[in-house]
Amino acid sequence: MPVIRFVREGRDVECYPGENLREVALREGIEIYGLKGKLGNCGGCGQCITCFVDVDGADPLALTPCTAVEEQKLRRRPTSWRLACQALVQGSLVVLTRPQVGLQDREGILARALETPLPPGPLAWPEPEPQADLEPEEGEGGSTTSDEAGDG
Ligand code: FES
Repeated sequence: MPVIRFVREGRDVECYPGENLREVALREGIEIYGLKGKLGNCGGCGQCITCFVDVDGADPLALTPCTAVEEQKLRRRPTSWRLACQALVQGSLVVLTRPQVGLQDREGILARALETPLPPGPLAWPEPEPQADLEPEEGEGGSTTSDEAGDG
């Protein structure tokens, strides 16, 4: 499973491949919004431009490519910034939330976060667990088969 290292929060969070980065952050109680986004955001539609994250140094395949919305909305932002609501996680990566907000020793913290290896994570959904034999429901011939009856 991919691991997202949230640098500002000092947390590594596991998620399924294909999960939305914003939704993972919200589920894990990670604050991705600055003041403006807290006061009002679009709920993940790519319209409010308040869910910035910086993924500088991440494997380019760790997130899905920039969407057309991001290409338009992030024109004047650093090229390593993404909109969390537009990005699906495909592999492990390091994320700085709210990159527009100051962080003491930002470069050092980011460098250390990138130095510490992350598990690569699979690029596909995990195989489903094999299902145990189900008990027959009432009215579906609940009698035992001759194989089951003959055991022992
Ligand atoms: S939540 Fe509004 S642009 Fe991402």
